[in-house]
Amino acid sequence: VGIDLATATRTERLLAAARAPKLAELPTPFLAVDLDTLESNLARMQAICDAAGTGLAPHMKSHKCTAIARRQLAAGAAAITCATTDEAAALARAGLGPVLLASVVTNPARLRRLAEAAAAVPVVAAVDSAEGAALMASAARERGVTLETVIECDIGMGRNGVADVDEGLRLAEEIEALDGLRLSGVMAYEGHLVDIADAVERRLRSLAATEWAVELLRRLRDAGFEAPIFTGSSTATHDSTGALPEMTHLQAGTYALMDATYRRLAPRFEPALAIVATVLTCKGDRLVLDFGVKRSGSDWGAPVLVSPAAKHLYTAEEHVVFRLEPGTTLAVGERVVVLPAHGCTTVNLYSRLYGCRAGELDEVLETDGRDPLL
Ligand SMILES: Cc1ncc(COP(=O)(O)O)c(C=O)c1O
Repeated sequence: VGIDLATATRTERLLAAARAPKLAELPTPFLAVDLDTLESNLARMQAICDAAGTGLAPHMKSHKCTAIARRQLAAGAAAITCATTDEAAALARAGLGPVLLASVVTNPARLRRLAEAAAAVPVVAAVDSAEGAALMASAARERGVTLETVIECDIGMGRNGVADVDEGLRLAEEIEALDGLRLSGVMAYEGHLVDIADAVERRLRSLAATEWAVELLRRLRDAGFEAPIFTGSSTATHDSTGALPEMTHLQAGTYALMDATYRRLAPRFEPALAIVATVLTCKGDRLVLDFGVKRSGSDWGAPVLVSPAAKHLYTAEEHVVFRLEPGTTLAVGERVVVLPAHGCTTVNLYSRLYGCRAGELDEVLETDGRDPLL
């Protein structure tokens, strides 16, 4: 393939993965993962957390693979964070835990799935209202399990969460009064701040936003609640809120596979995931590839062509169009490698990831945490 893999950069490794002989017959688009890069990202984040004395609970939403979650637990993670009850169910089926569901769930069928998972592995789940807690408690009692809970705080994102310390303290009493639930701590995710480009501003605003959630944790402990868990943070804030002494479950997800957006926000982790595509048309400076928004999460903008340099023009349903730099061209039918703008919403569109090592197919990773109804 013309690449010296001993000295290859991470993106060169992705290019080599795309050309793995065993993948030559595979229809594009498909997702390739460079396993060496993935494993070095996992080891790096774990080492950062170990050095800071904080616990890591990698977010499964970013890869949806129990095979990767297993590696994260083996590397030293305290738990695996999930966004959905399907991810929690997949972990439970694989016997992997503890599971931290970092999303509020109120749908009874989803809550039954969560309680079922809790019958196999320890489960901690986010709660933000007395009504939601009552629904969760009833699913837990029905299945004969106890679900641990963390009180989610809305620290500015305007999604789920209690609004202040007083509401959190009231909810703690309400949770403790319910058979089937136990209060285990506090969650605060600064999702509205993670994409601030200036790293210092991102750090200061994230720490400031999280302050009252830490205060809630203190007040709960002062009031006699055990509350051993404090959870939140992200790949982009792992070294600010993630390094808080209270942090027991840092919910970083994207660091494992990375994407084009996070390359700017967390450059110490390297791209391990690529969409492998085929050139449909290359006329003059116009390059058209064979995937679009239906096979590439585009909620965070444009995918990035790894090589050669090209400007993204637009993404349609099944096509993406780039403008090549003068003097560069690609052959019709040639394979290329593209970094998705948003890895998490791309992985969800594929049933497997092709794991390569040194340019050879090594392991097929099922995205078994996806909704089975998809
Ligand atoms: C609840 C929650 N925690 C943590 C994260 C952080 O994930 P990442 O590291 O991919 O930014 C997210 C991202 O969406 C999230 O929704």
